[in-house]
Amino acid sequence: MSVREALAAGAARLAAAGVADPGRDARRLMAEALGLAPDRLTLVLGEAVPGDAAAAFARMLEERARARPVAQILGRRAFWGRDFTVTGAVLDPRPETETLVALALEGARPERILDLGTGSGAILVTLLAEWPEAAGVGTDIDAEALAVAAENAARHGVAARATFQRADWTEGVEGRFDLVVSNPPYIPEAEVEGLAADVRDWEPRHALTAGPTGLEAYRRIAAGLGAVLAPGGRVLLEVGAGQGAAVAAILPGARVHPDLDGRDRVVEVAG
Ligand SMILES: C[S@@+](CC[C@H](N)C(=O)[O-])C[C@H]1O[C@@H](n2cnc3c(N)ncnc32)[C@H](O)[C@@H]1O
Repeated sequence: MSVREALAAGAARLAAAGVADPGRDARRLMAEALGLAPDRLTLVLGEAVPGDAAAAFARMLEERARARPVAQILGRRAFWGRDFTVTGAVLDPRPETETLVALALEGARPERILDLGTGSGAILVTLLAEWPEAAGVGTDIDAEALAVAAENAARHGVAARATFQRADWTEGVEGRFDLVVSNPPYIPEAEVEGLAADVRDWEPRHALTAGPTGLEAYRRIAAGLGAVLAPGGRVLLEVGAGQGAAVAAILPGARVHPDLDGRDRVVEVAG
């Protein structure tokens, strides 16, 4: 079977399983099976798929048909130009979160960064990689997530400047930080059931929701900021679309930044 034929059959299999973008996902899985960058696939469309690649493609298709996210199947996700290890213990880093990273990098260079709910470490590791003089602490409630974050810090050469700590938001975090960042769980509990199966059934529930209103984590973080923020320190919190005003109301002096689609995305308290 040619790559073109296998891709068409694979996309049909994913479409039948209800996958939202079957063509794109089939191409990403085929590229992985062939060991190619996705943008090289067009060069081999007429070639036969080698047996081992066909078997790997079939295996990955079946996982995707069960709604397993592509990032978990591949074990990685690109974020701010770097590949991050992704497992079922962490949120798949989202492109929207790059808005927070972009805003952080526009500001003054911090010496110490605190990332609350670090998950894969995508935010903290990216900022440490972009700011070679900075050091940081990433916290999470989940020890497995912290292990993934530590792996990503090592993968991107920032492990010596990153500390990972199990903590309930700011509880037990020592020292003061001139930049505090977080992408906390912000989906109202009742909305989780209505999420796409690849999010609802495969990503950690505590990475998605912290309670009925979607604002619970922000309240906890806001209450703890006084103990961790250095004088003149800056805070950047990712929010869900439509949550900007509600989160800004929790944090005196906050302003809301939109993402590239014009939706509320980051609430900032400037130093
Ligand atoms: C939306 S995910 C964000 C992960 C990562 N920072 C990112 O942007 O991709 C939220 C993270 O907060 C963590 N979390 C949930 N409740 C927490 C708590 N009480 N204290 C600390 N972290 C918590 C979750 O384990 C998860 O890793």
